[in-house]
Amino acid sequence: MNTRKRIQVLHGVNLDQLGRRDPGVYGTFTLTELETQISRWAAELECQVSFWQTNHEGEYCEMLHLASERTDGLILNPGAWTHYSYAIRDALEIVGVPAVELHISEVDGREDWRRYSVLADLCVGRVQGKGAEGYREALEILKGELTE
Ligand code: DQA
Repeated sequence: MNTRKRIQVLHGVNLDQLGRRDPGVYGTFTLTELETQISRWAAELECQVSFWQTNHEGEYCEMLHLASERTDGLILNPGAWTHYSYAIRDALEIVGVPAVELHISEVDGREDWRRYSVLADLCVGRVQGKGAEGYREALEILKGELTE
């Protein structure tokens, strides 16, 4: 039987544009390169990982609606939605699996409006400002949560 924990990474708005966004803030890697790296870390940590990206807020909510059946834990980088989407917050509230909020950049050190997250208190962890490496940390947090 496969007992590996299923982790889903949900990338939100504009994350498909990695590689074209400000390299000083987001690095130079593309989303595909990022996912390849995350898959390697997941294999090392003996987790199953899957990825999904959308630029549509309602679709992001719909993925959250399905998450409790499909996954044991979530890594959420909703991009700018993090800072204002009560729709995503409401959807996350009903998921019932642990989620880590992740930001590639250090949102707390940027514009004031990025410092606020409507999701943070629903998440078991928050990782920011660590670039791609942050996803490894998020996997470790979830693995810890799920093996407790
Ligand atoms: C981001 C930070 C957000 O403020 C921004 O809107 C993004 C990406 C990050 O990964 O650093 O699109 O979530």
